[in-house]
Amino acid sequence: PVAERVADLLGRMTLPEKVGQMLQLNAKEGVRHLVEDLHAGSILHASPERVTEAAVLTGKTRLRIPLLVAEDCIHGHSFWEGATIYPTQLGMAATWDPELVERIARATAVEVAATGVHWTFSPVLCITRDLRWGRVSETFGEDPFLIGELASAMVRGYQGDGLDDPTAILACAKHFAGYSETQGGRDASEADISRRKLRSWFLPPFERVAKEGCRTFMLGYQSMDGVPITVNNWLLNEVLRGEWGYTGTLVTDWDNVGRMVWEQKVYADYAQASAAAVRAGNDMVMTTSNFFAGAQEAVAQGALTESEIDAAVRRILTLKFELGLFEDPRHPDAARQAEVIGSGAHAVLNLEAARRSLVLLTNDGTLPFAGGLAADEEGRGRPLASGGPRTVAVIGPNADDAQTQLGDWAGSSGQADWLPEGQPRTMIRTVLDGFRDHVPADWTVSYAPGARILDVGPDPEGAFFPDGQPRPEVVVPAAPDASLIADAVAAAEAADHVVAVVGDRIELIGEGKSTATLELVGDQVALLDALAATGKPFAVVVISSKPLVLPPSALGAAAIVYAANPGMLGGRAVAELLLGLIEPAGRLPLSFARHAGQQPTYYNQVRGQHGSRYADLTQRPAFAFGEGLSYTTVDYTDLEVLTSVVDESETVRARVTVTNTGTRPALETVQVYVSDTVTSVTWAEKELKAYRQVALAPGESHEILFELPAAECTLVDAEGRRVVEPGRFELLVGPSSRDEALLRGEFTVKG
Ligand code: IFM
Repeated sequence: PVAERVADLLGRMTLPEKVGQMLQLNAKEGVRHLVEDLHAGSILHASPERVTEAAVLTGKTRLRIPLLVAEDCIHGHSFWEGATIYPTQLGMAATWDPELVERIARATAVEVAATGVHWTFSPVLCITRDLRWGRVSETFGEDPFLIGELASAMVRGYQGDGLDDPTAILACAKHFAGYSETQGGRDASEADISRRKLRSWFLPPFERVAKEGCRTFMLGYQSMDGVPITVNNWLLNEVLRGEWGYTGTLVTDWDNVGRMVWEQKVYADYAQASAAAVRAGNDMVMTTSNFFAGAQEAVAQGALTESEIDAAVRRILTLKFELGLFEDPRHPDAARQAEVIGSGAHAVLNLEAARRSLVLLTNDGTLPFAGGLAADEEGRGRPLASGGPRTVAVIGPNADDAQTQLGDWAGSSGQADWLPEGQPRTMIRTVLDGFRDHVPADWTVSYAPGARILDVGPDPEGAFFPDGQPRPEVVVPAAPDASLIADAVAAAEAADHVVAVVGDRIELIGEGKSTATLELVGDQVALLDALAATGKPFAVVVISSKPLVLPPSALGAAAIVYAANPGMLGGRAVAELLLGLIEPAGRLPLSFARHAGQQPTYYNQVRGQHGSRYADLTQRPAFAFGEGLSYTTVDYTDLEVLTSVVDESETVRARVTVTNTGTRPALETVQVYVSDTVTSVTWAEKELKAYRQVALAPGESHEILFELPAAECTLVDAEGRRVVEPGRFELLVGPSSRDEALLRGEFTVKG
C-alpha cells in the first residue's frame, strides 16, 4: 500500500533530502545543481533535453526518488513544438460546454504526458472582476457556477480514469484564492477582500474541485488584509484542509516564499519565511532555492520541526507513488509524441472548440456573407454556392496575427519566441488564411492590415517576471498611419463583403501585463471610424484576451463577433462563421464594459447600490453575461414552475418551451437564474443556477424540464455561513442575464 511505501521511504530520508523534495525549481537554473545539490523534488519549464537529463541524474541519486515535471499547459501544451493549442480558457468558457472542455483537457493530457510532463498548472478558477487585469483570458469568466462546471470538467479530463493511467496528468486548481480581486486591475496587488466575500463568490469553485478530487492546488501571489496568501493559515489549513477535507498537494506560486522576504518584506530572512510557509500548509515551494537552506536553518533554530516537514513530504511522495512514477517515471516518449502531438484527431477537436467559442453579439442581417444556402444534414460544413464572383475585404491588425490569435501560454516560452523553429505555419490558420481557404473558387479575398496596435521595443527595465524573459516595451503609435487606413478604406470600397478584425496584442496579455485602459489601442479606432464613414456595411471581429471597450463605429457596425483568443484554428472558424458554413453558438462568460472606468461590470453584483451609478454613464454593460445570438431567432414561452412550494431538501421543478422561429439551425443555451427576493444580507440580484444546451432545427420546439435543488439557493450570511433563507424566490429563464430577456416564475422555500 502507498502509505507503507511512503513511510518506509520517508524513514530513510535525511533532512536535506526532505527539504529538497519540497522544492520545485526552474530547470533553467541547471538540472545537475537542482538534482544533485538541492535534491529537488520537482522541476518546471524544462526543455525536452533537460527533462531527460534530470531523469538520468535522478536515477543516480541515493534514493532514486523520481522528479515531478510540471508545466503551464493551460490550453494545450504551451511549451512543445507542434502541440495543439486550443482556444484560451476564456474562449472555452464561451462554449458553456463542460463535455467539450473535458475532451480538450483529456486530449491535452495525452499530448502532455507523452512529453514526460506529469503536472499541468491548470485550470484557473479565478473569477474575473476587473477587466483591466492581465490574466482575464486565463479564466472561465465572471460566474462562480459556470466556472465550477467547466473547471471540474477540465480536472476530470486531465486526471482521466485515475492517476495510474499513463495518459493522466495532475490538474492544479489555481490561484487559491482571491487573487483576481485586484486593485485597479493590477496583477498581484493586495486583495481587499473579506472572508465572507471569499466564501460568497471566490471559494465555491475551488471547494467543488477539491471535493471532486483535484489533486493539487496553487496559491496566488496576493496578500489579504496584510497577510501574504502563502502564510494564510485560515485559508490553507482551516478551510482547505480542515473544512473541505482536502488531502492533495499545495504548491506556492513563483517565489512566493522569497517574495515574503525581498518584496512583501514581512520576514527578515529565509528561515522565518520558510518556517511560516510550511506551517501554513504549503507542500511544494516554487522556485525559491533559498528555501533549501532556510528550512534547514529553521529546524536548527527550533522554529520548525522535522515532523512538520515530514507532513508535506508525505503528501508529495504519495502523489509520486499514486502516479506510479517509481515503477514508470514516464520519461519523454518520442514514438508516442509522433503519434499524438498535434494529431489529426486533436485538430478536429480544436476546430470544434474554436467554432463553438465564437460569440455573435450583434447582426443586422449582414452575416452570414453567403447566407441563404441550403443546409446539409448536420447543418454545417455546407458547400458554398458562390452566387457569382465576389470579393471579401479582410481588414485589420488581428486578421493575420497568429501569435495574438493563439493567446498567452502558447509558445515555447509563452512569451516572445512563441513559434518554435520549424513549426509549420499550416498548423495555424489566421482569419485571413481562413477566408483564403474557404471562399468559393470564384471569389477573391483582399487584405489590408489597416492599423497598427503597438510598436514594441526592448524593455527599459530589464528582466521580466517570471522567467527572466525580456519584457518588451510597449509603445502606442502616436498618430494614426493615414496610408494604412487609406489602403484599408480602398479595399473595403472595392469589396462586396467587409470584415475588420481588431483587438489587443500578445504584449498586452498575461501575468504582470494588466492594462490601464480597455480601449482599442493604436490606430484601430481611427480605422473603424474610417470604415464606418464609407457607409459600407462591415462586420467587426474582436480577437482579444478580454472584452474591450468598443467605439461607436464598432458598436454601430453591421455585426460584431467576439472570438477571444481562439487558438490555432480560430481564424478558420471565424471565416466559416462569417461565410455561413457554421452556426454561431457561443455565449459570453463575462460582460463587456462601455468604458474602462465602468469597472466592475459583472452581472452578479450585490444589489442596493442606487447611488453607485455614474452621473455620466449608465452602469449597464455594453454586452452582458450570457449574451450571444444565432443566425436564427429563438423564442422562450410558457415558463411554468411545477413545484412552487418546497422544503430545503426538495427540488424545484420547472419547464419552459424554446422554439426556433427562424430558418437556420440553432444551438441554444437556456439559462436559469434565481433571485432571492429578500435576503438578510445584501446579495446578488440574480445568480446563474443551471443551464441547458439544446439543438433546434428551423421550426423545432422543445419543452425543457429543470430540476433545481432548493439547497442550492443559498447565500452567505453575516456570520459567513452558507445557508438557504426560507421565503420567496424568483426563477428567471432566458437566453442571457439581461433582465428584459428573462421569463419570470416564482417559488417558495418553506421555513
Ligand atoms: O503557473 C504559473 C502561475 O499561474 C503564475 N506564476 C508562474 C506559474 C508557473 O509558471
